[in-house]
Parts: sequence; structure tokens; C-alpha cells
Amino acid sequence: MNRRALLGSGLLAMLCAALPAAAQEPVVVRFSHVVARDTPKGLAADHFAALVNQRAAGRLRVEVYPDSQLYKDGEEMEALQLGSVQLLAPSHAKFGPLGVPDFEVFDLPFMFDSYAQLHRVTQGPIGKRLLHKLEAKGIVGLAYWDNGFKDFSANRPLRQLADFRGLRMRIQSSRVLDGQMRALGATPQVLAFSDTHRALAAGVVDGTENPPSNFYTQRMHEVQRYLLHSQHGYLGYVVIANKRFWEALPGDLRTLLEECMVSATRYANQIAEQKNNESLEAVRKSGKTVVAIPDPALRQALKLATSRTHREHEARIGANLIRSIYRETGFDPGRP
Ligand code: LMR
Repeated sequence: MNRRALLGSGLLAMLCAALPAAAQEPVVVRFSHVVARDTPKGLAADHFAALVNQRAAGRLRVEVYPDSQLYKDGEEMEALQLGSVQLLAPSHAKFGPLGVPDFEVFDLPFMFDSYAQLHRVTQGPIGKRLLHKLEAKGIVGLAYWDNGFKDFSANRPLRQLADFRGLRMRIQSSRVLDGQMRALGATPQVLAFSDTHRALAAGVVDGTENPPSNFYTQRMHEVQRYLLHSQHGYLGYVVIANKRFWEALPGDLRTLLEECMVSATRYANQIAEQKNNESLEAVRKSGKTVVAIPDPALRQALKLATSRTHREHEARIGANLIRSIYRETGFDPGRP
């Protein structure tokens, strides 16, 4: 073998030696979200990462970036489609701008009364059909994670319907939520979740809505004097992956992620209610926000006033989809 050939075979040997090392570099899966770690979504994302990282034996690593550290909502969906992150768990309200308004069905006021009703939808054929819709957008829908039921908050007491009139209310990017606030006589304003506390503190908006877990962990109780524990709508998440990334994964790693997602989903949905109860209690104890429970008459008035949102968004979301959920939950649009 001449020198050149030797050199060549040496280089080849070096390359071959290097290859397994390169192949052992873990696949990094970046999971970005916008809420605090100590929330149902934050805890479930961490639980998922810990489970995967323990079982993947160094072949794959999930890194969680909470609290809009990487991307705000609005940006994160684009980042997922571009492949800058691989996993997200946006709320249903955030899918309209992507061109899949169907998920806004979960935003319809008073649509769900309990987690059990929700699970019949998310874990049944309706939930599955909705996830399939994401494929055309280069996204794979993996699971539904609960947060909970939303409360209204404001810088003035919300004792009756008239108290909503004229309030500037921060909402997520959902036209259903826009309609809901308008039906109450308020002025909705879409703001990124990460900008909400600042906007409330500066008086850019007067109020907002969120389940207690988000309200408390974003310290909104420090800048909102009144909270109405209205539970007038649901907030939950769809865990989604970049489709190209997902399909390019080795089969066994994809299976591992799927198995860990089943476990994380069970965990998320087990802790959601308790985390929200704890947060509501913490808000009360802070003494900074007055928590009021609406009497049945106020709840009924809110329900009646916002019921037109169901009709107004029927064409956009899909009358069949809305009706199929009425059948599951027993919601009667004729008797809201
Ligand atoms: C919001 O933007 O109000 C929340 O939905 C954020 C989240 O992901 O819970």
C-alpha cells in the first residue's frame, strides 16, 4: 500500500471511528411553552422530559423552555413549523391564526361543565379528528392536556353584567374569545401571554381571564384587585410536534416519545384541578385580590349574554363540530 493509500485508509479509519461517536450525539428535542413551571402544563412538560431522558439512554434529550424563554405565543407556532423547536403545547385559542379555527370550539363560553365532559371529547373520536386537521399544516397532534376553567379578573368589582361594560380585557388570539368579551360589552385586546402582567400593571388593559393557576403564577393577583370565580370557559392545550422531525425519528425513539406522552398526559390531567384549587387559595391568601363567587343569577346572566357567541362562530368553526360536542356535553343552545 503506498503512502497516499495508507493516508487515505487512515483517514477512513478515523472517520469510521468518529462516526459511531457522532451517531451517539443525542437527538435534542426542544419543548417550548409560555407558562410558569409550577402550572399544570409546566409540570407535565417537565414530567415528560424527565421520563424520556431517563428512558432514552442518552440517545435523545428533551429540553423544556418554560415561561416564553424561547418564544412568545404568536412566535412559537412559526418556530415549530420552521423546525426551530420540535414540541409545543399551545392553548386551543392559539390555533386560529394557524388556519385551524376548529379548536376554538373549546373556547365557546359555558360549553363544558366538567373535566369529565371534556375528556369524552378530547379522548374520543372528535378529539382525534381535530388532531388530524393539523397534519396539513406540517404539525402532528400528540395529546390534549388540561388546564382548567377560566375566571374573569378586573380592576373593579364584577358584581353584575353591567360591570363588564367598557372594560378593556386582554384575550388570547381567538375570535371566539373576542366575541365573548364583546357580548359582555367589554373591549377585547389580543396580547401575548408574556405581556399580560405588564399590560395590566400599566393599565393598558383593565382585566383578563385565565384559570387560577395562570393567574397566580404570572402574579396577576398583584395587579388585579378583583377576581370573579366564574369558570365560564375552558382552557386546555394540544401538545404538537413538527411533522418532518416526528416522521424522521427512528421508530423506537418515536415509540418511546409516544409512551412517555401517554404517561405525561395522564399526569397533566390528574394534577390540573388540584393545581388550580391551590392557586385560587393562594390568591385568596395573598390578600391582594378579592375573590368573589358568582351567585346563580349572575352565572346565568353571563351564560345568556355570551350564548350568541356560539351562533356567531358556527360557520367558521363548523356547525357539525359544535353540535357533536353539544351531544356529548348536553349543552342546550336553546336554553343557555
Ligand atoms: C394565555 O395566553 O392566556 C394562556 O392560555 C397561556 C397558556 O398557555 O396557558
